Amino acid sequence: MPATATATTNVYFEDQQPATTDSVAEVIAGLQLNQKRVDPKYFYDAHGSQLFEQITQLPEYYPTRTERQILSDNANDIAAHCGQGCVLIEPGSGSSEKIRLLLDTLRPSAYVPLDISAEFLYRSAVKLGREFPWLKIQAICADFADSWQTRTTLPEGQRVIFYPGSTIGNMDPAAAEKFLAGLRQWIGNDGGVLIGVDLHKEEHLLNAAYNDAQGVTAEFNLNILNSMNKLINSNFSDQQFSHRAFYNQTLQRIEMHLVSDHAQTVNVNGNAIAFDKGETLHTENSYKYTLESFTALSEAAGFTIKRSWLDDDALFSVHYLSVNPD
Ligand code: SAH
Ligand code: AVI
Repeated sequence: MPATATATTNVYFEDQQPATTDSVAEVIAGLQLNQKRVDPKYFYDAHGSQLFEQITQLPEYYPTRTERQILSDNANDIAAHCGQGCVLIEPGSGSSEKIRLLLDTLRPSAYVPLDISAEFLYRSAVKLGREFPWLKIQAICADFADSWQTRTTLPEGQRVIFYPGSTIGNMDPAAAEKFLAGLRQWIGNDGGVLIGVDLHKEEHLLNAAYNDAQGVTAEFNLNILNSMNKLINSNFSDQQFSHRAFYNQTLQRIEMHLVSDHAQTVNVNGNAIAFDKGETLHTENSYKYTLESFTALSEAAGFTIKRSWLDDDALFSVHYLSVNPD
């Protein structure tokens, strides 16, 4: 994959991956905390992105199929809110599957998929560009929590941020508010945010979605160790840890951890990191919202919810946010 390249006539790829030295420092800082933790962005090497795609097909993982249904059932109304011909920016675009459901109705002037998973992003953008030859695609490999927008020139036009999948749920509420508030400067007064948010529901459904019978989520969770090994010169073994995921009722979030099967010391770029038997590495939170708690979050970030779309069972929600109260 070239660093910066025009892949096909309608696809342009821009590489703004975080520097490895930044990743090393960030991972080590997380491993030195009392509760060891790692940012979930490290799940997504090329294999991690493929495993996530497999998760989206699992019978227990309701969010993807439910959100897809909401988007296709309401494509016309969604397009009316976004405005035809807008510039669509998708942070954490993955396979860019969901945007396909809106492209013919929305007819954006450009699509900007942005993802940390370089190779997967490149392949997804090229595939999309071939399927939609009329669509101008500017794919950017970057950390969406970083100030990437200062280092690029986005296409001109009214901007809509498409942020599906409840990726917002992987941030704690304070970070989510900061991230949402930060989107206001990308979209100005005329743009909007089309965002997918997973909803609070019966605990057994939540626990099943992150503990699937085929063990794909376990494999995804363990793969973070291999992904870190490649990126930051560490020697974690995915044979020495086990998957654990559970719903934390008090904090209204799924927590994913990797449990150390025995006492062990891991070398992380020259730093010895000791794990006790049973000690965990916290790999992900996935917060679940109510309509009330998501409204409060959006308002705290300076947005008004113009419209919300839900499935019949209220499992998942999609919202159009605007900074304009009218
Ligand atoms: N939008 C898609 C994919 C969601 S999975 C959908 O709704 O199905 C989350 C995606 O966000 C992954 O593709 C992952 O690589 C990307 N991602 C996670 N953290 C990121 C970060 N900090 N910066 C950029 N991309 C990130
Ligand atoms: C990307 N993100 C919203 C997914 C989620 O549900 O939190 C990632 C995932 N983790 C385990 N399964 C899926």
